[in-house]
Amino acid sequence: MVSWQHQGSLQDLKTCLARTLFLLALLGRVSSLKECLILQSAEGSTVSCHGPTEFPSSLPADTVHLSVEFSNLTQLPAAALQGCPGLRELHLSSNRLQALSPELLAPVPRLRALDLTRNALRSLPPGLFSTSANLSTLVLRENQLREVSAQWLQGLDALGHLDLAENQLSSLPSGLLASLGALHTLDLGYNLLESLPEGLLRGPRRLQRLHLEGNRLQRLEDSLLAPQPFLRVLFLNDNQLVGVATGSFQGLQHLDMLDLSNNSLSSTPPGLWAFLGRPTRDMQDGFDISHNPWICDKNLADLCRWLVANRNKMFSQNDTRCAGPEAMKGQRLLDVAELGSL
Ligand SMILES: *[C@@H]1O[C@H](CO)[C@@H](O)[C@H](O)[C@H]1NC(C)=O
Ligand SMILES: *[C@@H]1O[C@H](CO)[C@@H](O)[C@H](O)[C@H]1NC(C)=O
Ligand SMILES: *[C@@H]1O[C@H](CO)[C@@H](O)[C@H](O)[C@H]1NC(C)=O
Ligand SMILES: *[C@@H]1O[C@H](CO)[C@@H](O)[C@H](O)[C@H]1NC(C)=O
Repeated sequence: MVSWQHQGSLQDLKTCLARTLFLLALLGRVSSLKECLILQSAEGSTVSCHGPTEFPSSLPADTVHLSVEFSNLTQLPAAALQGCPGLRELHLSSNRLQALSPELLAPVPRLRALDLTRNALRSLPPGLFSTSANLSTLVLRENQLREVSAQWLQGLDALGHLDLAENQLSSLPSGLLASLGALHTLDLGYNLLESLPEGLLRGPRRLQRLHLEGNRLQRLEDSLLAPQPFLRVLFLNDNQLVGVATGSFQGLQHLDMLDLSNNSLSSTPPGLWAFLGRPTRDMQDGFDISHNPWICDKNLADLCRWLVANRNKMFSQNDTRCAGPEAMKGQRLLDVAELGSL
């Protein structure tokens, strides 16, 4: 962030510091924002404000990076960003924003990252991103969103990373991602989702990471993951899964990490595992099926064979145990699998 540190002599450093302090003093006087620090580099100005209760009313025209965080801001003026058309990153985490103006981002079409972590947003205005074709990262985690609308996300042609974790989402529209062709990472973790619409993952051309952990999902259906054969990382832990449909993982030839731990699975259907890991390939980053009430009878034979072939990539082996039948209770699933007695 502070690129002058890498750039040349002590003299440069002194000049730069003097300039920074001058600007600080200037801003301090003009808008009484003592808390803002301005650093300049060849790219443009970086402005960081911690603690003020108002948004800076005058920003350097070459501002490329603006942070106003931990400030308890409750609102932003609609024209807040008008003075800095080259803005590329806007960090507003840990405030108390409840709503945003639909015009807020219109003056900053080159914005690449917007971080709104830990605010009090209940919704977003439709059209907010209509001029945000360069936005690649949008973080809305830890807000109060109860629903999201596909309309909000229109215009986000370059969006690669969407983070909606730790909100209060209990359902999603099926077309949510329809216009997000570039999306590679989606985080829906720690919401209140009980099910997902069938076509949810249609839209992105190449989704790679999907976070669904910490919801209330009860079933994984065949059709959900089918549109995303390039998925590499899938988190489904800390849900209430009682069933995973046979074809759920069909076609996922690039899956390197799967977390199904802490669900309510007592068995999985024959054929489910055929698409993952060995003998075809390696689950490079491992898998976790611990803390499930596995019933170690013949219905688990298919999983057991797969476990033996993939044991090197199995996490939490000691916490993956049989919950039944009575005679098997408490035994490590991997031990049972290796005995090959099911
Ligand atoms: C923000 O509010 C919290 C909780 O009321 C308080 O502890 C903190 O000091 C406030 N921060 C600022 C910068 O006013
Ligand atoms: C930024 O947006 C412009 C159009 O507004 C587009 O031409 C350009 O390709 C975009 N750049 C990126 C990196 O998406
Ligand atoms: C299992 O998930 C629940 C939420 O579904 C969570 O409250 C609990 O702490 C998790 N348990 C473990 C052992 O991770
Ligand atoms: C495995 O689990 C058992 C019983 O829960 C415990 O006593 C033991 O210390 C654990 N071993 C390891 C290596 O964690």
